Amino acid sequence: MPASPIDNTTPTFDSSKITVIYVLGGPGAGKGTQCANLVKDFGFCHLSAGDLLRAEQTREGSQYGELIRTCIKEGTIVPMEVTIKLLENAMKAELERKPRGEGWADGKGRFLIDGFPRKMDQAVKFDETVCLSTKVLFFTTTEEVMLSRLLERGKTSGREDDNVESIKKRFRTYANDTMPVIQYYASQGKVAEVDSTVAIEDVHKAAREVVLKIFAEKQQTA
Ligand code: C5P
Ligand code: MG
Repeated sequence: MPASPIDNTTPTFDSSKITVIYVLGGPGAGKGTQCANLVKDFGFCHLSAGDLLRAEQTREGSQYGELIRTCIKEGTIVPMEVTIKLLENAMKAELERKPRGEGWADGKGRFLIDGFPRKMDQAVKFDETVCLSTKVLFFTTTEEVMLSRLLERGKTSGREDDNVESIKKRFRTYANDTMPVIQYYASQGKVAEVDSTVAIEDVHKAAREVVLKIFAEKQQTA
């Protein structure tokens, strides 16, 4: 009997054409800042899972608004189906826009997926059904540094989770749910670690080198 479309786990996007780099690191590690830099360098489409969730939370008519609000405030992970659908839709929309420029010719594309996957189920499901990821760019620094950055950001971010209470919960979720994801990809040799304690421009330089290497390796396997 032929497989039904429901059983079909062929990913939506072909990873030989679409490069997905997951960007991970604790809250306040500098993921968003560095993604913005890499967009300028390489023409990536930057998709932040947290930003997409916040937009969905306030979208009129969304059935997930309350669920997302509670998870964000409590620093817990939103059920993966919601986040994966938002990411997949955003990738489709970007490709339909037919962007021009380096890395986007002939159905190719390059995405930085920021703050994702935060939990093992998200990682496995996205790789299987949306697009097999190429690499994880992993920004590391201490909790002390992250805490002070988040409290500074909290003065102007308007985010409901940039307060000490939520931040502590986010650190706990990061250790319990996200570190296993890092370990999983590290065991496959897919993690490139960058120390994000140093000055923004130095972190940027190191991150740029990592991306250059990823593209060089990808060329060899294409
Ligand atoms: O990445 P960011 O700090 O913006 O994420 C904010 C919150 O969004 C997380 O603490 C979590 O509640 C939720 N989130 C999630 N799954 C992701 C990314 C973010 O549940 N992959
Ligand atoms: Mg962010």
